[in-house]
Amino acid sequence: MGDTKETQIIGIISGKGGVGKSVVAVNTASMLSKLGKSVVLVDADLSNPSVSLHLGLSYTPIGIQEVLGGKNKMTDGLVIHPLTGLRVLPASLKYKPDTSLKNLKSVLKQLTAYDYVIVDSPPGITEDVENIIEACDKVVIVTTADIPSITSASKIVSLCAAVKTSVIGIIVNRITNATYELSNKEIETMSEVKTLCDIPEDEHVPASIAARLPVVLYKPQSVASQKLKLCTLLLTGETPEQILQPSLISKLLDMIKRILRLK
Ligand SMILES: Nc1ncnc2c1ncn2[C@@H]1O[C@H](COP(=O)(O)OP(=O)(O)OP(=O)(O)O)[C@@H](O)[C@H]1O
Ligand SMILES: [Mg+2]
Repeated sequence: MGDTKETQIIGIISGKGGVGKSVVAVNTASMLSKLGKSVVLVDADLSNPSVSLHLGLSYTPIGIQEVLGGKNKMTDGLVIHPLTGLRVLPASLKYKPDTSLKNLKSVLKQLTAYDYVIVDSPPGITEDVENIIEACDKVVIVTTADIPSITSASKIVSLCAAVKTSVIGIIVNRITNATYELSNKEIETMSEVKTLCDIPEDEHVPASIAARLPVVLYKPQSVASQKLKLCTLLLTGETPEQILQPSLISKLLDMIKRILRLK
């Protein structure tokens, strides 16, 4: 925290459901946090929230619905994921009708103390998704390599253009290398957006969800984890050197302080 850099609010969006948004959101946020960045992961999927389930966080009565409704402050809702230090604003697992995401933008504006805010979203071309896209500085679109999913992703690209939110790129998830899968070139031609990276179908992903851990921690050496780490760097523009530098500097400062104290 306290960086000179502005907070980046990044939405993880898809037209089709079940393509891996929550997996991407949970793992990129966890990775950034593990790498020393201050991060809040916001679950804006009010119908089927899954962030707290993926992370094994215990149920809390205050979530994004209460914050959006003005009943509670943001700080009342934030939960800390003990393994990564990631801050999470979960969505209530109980059914709460009539919660609107209209004031999500003003809610997210309260998070200026953090380096990154990662927003997980519901699927679809809906008013809720439009509100999320408007509340974000930029978005990444997640898709699988099939025509219905890319057709839907293209609609999200148009929606982003309409509300003037930039698209960082497309993450192609659950790749099996089957001959009928669309290539990255085909996906780029159809969507007119560059592909950032692809993530293979990997059984460690559902296993990690069952274990309630991000796969980058559950099986760091798995192919999916390696690709998710790469995605994190590509979608944020962070480089491992940039991430390591501040801790190296603070180690050096600590050393100098120790030497001065000894004299
Ligand atoms: N790379 C992968 N390899 C294997 N399984 C995956 C992979 N990515 C996601 N999955 C599986 O796909 C399912 C859907 O993933 P996830 O919940 O992240 O999708 P989603 O886009 O957030 O879904 P929704 O639209 O319902 O919010 C999960 O069961 C998850 O285990
Ligand atoms: Mg999801």
